[in-house]
Amino acid sequence: MTGRIFAIASGKGGVGKTWLAITLSHALARAGRRVLLFDGDLGLANVDIQLGLTPAADLAAVVAGRVALRDAVVRIGGFHILPGHSGSGTLASLAPAALEQLLAALRAAPAYDTIVLDLAAGLDRPVRRMAAFADRLFVVATDEPTSLTDAYAVLKLHAADARTRNTAIVVNAAATRAAGERTYQTLARACETFLGHTPPCLGIVRRDDHVRDAIRRQTLLLERHPNCPAAADVEALAVSMDARG
Ligand SMILES: Nc1ncnc2c1ncn2[C@@H]1O[C@H](COP(=O)(O)OP(=O)(O)OP(=O)(O)O)[C@@H](O)[C@H]1O
Ligand SMILES: [Mg+2]
Repeated sequence: MTGRIFAIASGKGGVGKTWLAITLSHALARAGRRVLLFDGDLGLANVDIQLGLTPAADLAAVVAGRVALRDAVVRIGGFHILPGHSGSGTLASLAPAALEQLLAALRAAPAYDTIVLDLAAGLDRPVRRMAAFADRLFVVATDEPTSLTDAYAVLKLHAADARTRNTAIVVNAAATRAAGERTYQTLARACETFLGHTPPCLGIVRRDDHVRDAIRRQTLLLERHPNCPAAADVEALAVSMDARG
């Protein structure tokens, strides 16, 4: 696996980034990686909410210098989470220099070989900066036309910002694997035509009601429903990340 910092973005909101970031972090930890999941949705953090965590310290305290990064992490399912701070105006409007400091602290964190950044929807400055900072960018799309258009916008801006082709596409909530493959092909064709390159498909995650159940119960899918289709698909994603090198 090239690099160790992976950002998960989408453009359109509500396509499953946060759930995927959590479940992928869990799968990678189960495969033996030392994983930190960073809630990079600086305005409306919700990793902690999906998991029912009540962290003692959060990102706001780290940014303010009151708490060291290693003291702010929460441990769950064999991986660590640096929670965000929902609704914090301070973080949403984080000064560029403070964001750089935070990213440098992440890059330097010695305890982890894998860092997953769960990004906010949209294309605001911090989102673009974190996407460009990551070693690899995974763009999540569903079969909704708006999701595809917005995923394309992220891929296009990223190509301009980072000038690298370190991107891959994840199709989430696909009705079937074949339907997910068609969704990928639609997005891939637009990239090939207008950007001149085709990001690979990291994987397809099927739509599965167990996901909603795990989130409603604020539990990890791989613990609550280890044998459901979405669990198998995310585990395959984790393997695919390793295999791509
Ligand atoms: N594979 C799936 N099958 C069924 N439902 C799913 C799947 N993935 C995500 N969902 C549903 O989508 C909802 C939104 O997920 P999530 O909050 O992770 O999206 P998001 O992209 O992080 O949203 P935001 O842009 O607001 O941060 C979840 O509550 C869940 O019910
Ligand atoms: Mg989210």
